[in-house]
Amino acid sequence: MNDLGFEIVGSGHYAPGEPVTNDDLSRVMTTSDEWIFPRSGIRQRHYAPEGVGVSDLGCEAAKRAIASSGIDPAEIDYIVFATMTPDYIFPGPGALLGAKLGIPGVPALDIRQQCAAMLFGLQTVNGLIQTGAARTILFVGAEAHAGFMPWEDWGALDPRNNRVATPEARERADRHRHLAVLFGDGAGALLFRATDRDAGLRAVKICSDGRFAELLYVPGGGFRTRPYWKTDSHDADMHIPRMDGRELFKFAVTKLPRTARELCAKHNVAIDQIDVFLAHQANQRINEHIRKDLGVPVAKLPSNIARFGNTSGATIPILLDEEMKAGRVKKGQLAMVLALGTGVHWGCALWRL
Ligand code: ACO
Repeated sequence: MNDLGFEIVGSGHYAPGEPVTNDDLSRVMTTSDEWIFPRSGIRQRHYAPEGVGVSDLGCEAAKRAIASSGIDPAEIDYIVFATMTPDYIFPGPGALLGAKLGIPGVPALDIRQQCAAMLFGLQTVNGLIQTGAARTILFVGAEAHAGFMPWEDWGALDPRNNRVATPEARERADRHRHLAVLFGDGAGALLFRATDRDAGLRAVKICSDGRFAELLYVPGGGFRTRPYWKTDSHDADMHIPRMDGRELFKFAVTKLPRTARELCAKHNVAIDQIDVFLAHQANQRINEHIRKDLGVPVAKLPSNIARFGNTSGATIPILLDEEMKAGRVKKGQLAMVLALGTGVHWGCALWRL
């Protein structure tokens, strides 16, 4: 597939603030660890504080990736930034990140494939390397979902404040609790560089199907209305995503194993030749279905959803950084990336690390 290889030369991640546990959430919504953990595998998540956007979260992760690589930031010749929760409706955060890193002028591409961002990001990185457009690429995935959480009394989450949200506020939050418990904030950064080594993207199968966009979408805002933000939108909770969790669950557990098998068959790769399965972390139960369906041992499909929740576009960079730092994922291994994100976008990639 490729003439030129690329490899990871640095990685880093960042999660803001103290973790918020499932019990902490029960002070702003009617929920519990007993409900959340068995259904999702999530124990805690982090939230970006007020005034901190994805360009800030991404900057922290990127600085760690750059430091781990030993590369001079001036050598970065392209930025690819994935998020579904940008600092502004426009412009995207990629150029803001370049400025914050002290590398203004470097081209920055914003991509928005939600939880499927790593797949599209890898394809983009590969294309930039193959065409000679770039040699050292900073890929950042970052999310600040806190802005759509259905509560306003953030202080009630902190056990030290010893208070719960008002009954009216809880009732409002309860309408969105199936969604709100899943998402957390954070950023992951991967620094890629062209290499002569036998490394890089081997094969990809990705699909997008807009017929299912409303399985998870934000109903308010957007330029199909005039003005694009209405004064009563906040009171109608139009800033909070609507999600059909059951349908998304079914979509993921049917499409992802099928796509993985098709990709392997087309490229003559046996499932057991794959060293590690880097799966998006939307729900531990989804990944358990996929793992069992494909016959993959537990150790080959790492999980960190218990500590971060679903961090959308940041998930796979964070997971990969953790696994590489722990020495469980290494250069030379064959990885499969599996992801599904709203759009709906989904697919798999075979990647020689
Ligand atoms: N705490 C307590 N009870 C709850 C909560 C909660 N947080 N949320 C929902 N409930 C209640 C509901 O009110 C309902 O009660 P009822 O039976 O009395 O009416 C009951 O629990 C079941 O609710 P469902 O929403 O039907 O729960 P479900 O079993 O479908 O699980 C879940 C919900 C965990 C969200 C699951 O559907 C899921 O994980 N789906 C996948 C979602 C996903 O992948 N999203 C990310 C997409 S990727 C991207 O692009 C970002």
